[in-house]
Amino acid sequence: MPLVDMKDMLNHAYRHGYAVGAFDLVSLDFLEGIMTAAERSRAPVILSLAESHFEYFDFELVMPAVEAAARRASVPVAIHLDHGGSLASAVTAIRYGCNGVMVDASSQPLSDNIQATRAVVDMAHACGVPVEGELGYVPGVEGEDAERHPGEVAYTTPEQAGAYVEQSGVDFLAVSIGTVHGRMKGEPRLDFQRLQQINEVLGIPLVIHGGTGLSDDQFRQLIANGVAKINYYTALSDAAAKQINENTKTDTGSGYTGLVKHLCATIATEVERCMHQWGAAGRADELLSHCQAWMPVEHLIVYNVHGVGKAGAETMIAEGRRILSAIPGVREVFTGEAVQNDAEYQYTWLVRFCHLAVVDSYREHPEHVAFADKLFRPVAGERISIDYQMLATDVTHIEYSNKEKVMR
Ligand code: 13P
Repeated sequence: MPLVDMKDMLNHAYRHGYAVGAFDLVSLDFLEGIMTAAERSRAPVILSLAESHFEYFDFELVMPAVEAAARRASVPVAIHLDHGGSLASAVTAIRYGCNGVMVDASSQPLSDNIQATRAVVDMAHACGVPVEGELGYVPGVEGEDAERHPGEVAYTTPEQAGAYVEQSGVDFLAVSIGTVHGRMKGEPRLDFQRLQQINEVLGIPLVIHGGTGLSDDQFRQLIANGVAKINYYTALSDAAAKQINENTKTDTGSGYTGLVKHLCATIATEVERCMHQWGAAGRADELLSHCQAWMPVEHLIVYNVHGVGKAGAETMIAEGRRILSAIPGVREVFTGEAVQNDAEYQYTWLVRFCHLAVVDSYREHPEHVAFADKLFRPVAGERISIDYQMLATDVTHIEYSNKEKVMR
């Protein structure tokens, strides 16, 4: 159960006046630290993966660990693509296991931003995945080097926000009201009146990027005016770097493992502070009873092939794998042949969908329809096709108290 629908999660936060932290992670130390903080403070959490950070780690390799951390958690978790730059990157993120995606076309003119966002929304909603859009410009790129890429703030206006949300169909909106990504030069001045007006017009969860460096009072006013998701990274990165610097002074002999000592604990301390400050601490159990679990669906087909021989069957199967794997919401395609020669059905497709919504969108997808009509059905005589959803009891819970004991 702990991997939950991000829309349910943020709607709950929005209605109950608190904000969920979306913490960008760049390594397993970050992942463990963030999850430890969430478990300790019984807070919902968003594990966030920023596209601009993919030069530092392999997104595909990291995602199984992120998903495993979410599935074994006892607090509600969502996995989000931060600042996705294209439709293709949103499709890939959903394939790898994200159940929320951000599309950032905010540098484009309004109509182009709406068009690019709408395309992602149509695709993602057909996969059951909610979408965050951005309007206006929050200076900097995600990362601790943002100070070097300042640009000018482009404020979100309430009028444009109304049109953008209506026409793009986004579920959450990232607004620009004076925050910047990364370290601040001087005191940030936030336009709360503008935020209040945007919130009155939209009535949907709002998102703040550039959480690092804001004061208690600023966070309080942001949340009071509709902010339900706060993106946070640079402070975690700085805390981790400080810890490494300290390690180099005290530990000269033990190599890499000595240098990264206490990183999880350091990151966990800062994340926990945020969860308390933003009112998310202690919300996990109440939220779990209001959230739908995020559960995959297995689309199973068993069939026999007639009239094309073994080689013909293999060609059809290879083509099917190529076509079906690319359909949005498909996470994996397993094609198999029966181990027993006398099995009633000789072949199988096992197609893993990210969510129940994909049962319909996959069936109707033009690439699937063309493959099924032209290549599959003509040769696959008798067959059985059934969709299975994972039972909630399949989710394994591992006690986090054991993990804490070994935390580095
Ligand atoms: P900070 O690095 O300023 O906390 O911002 C993070 C962010 O907004 C990622 O999208």
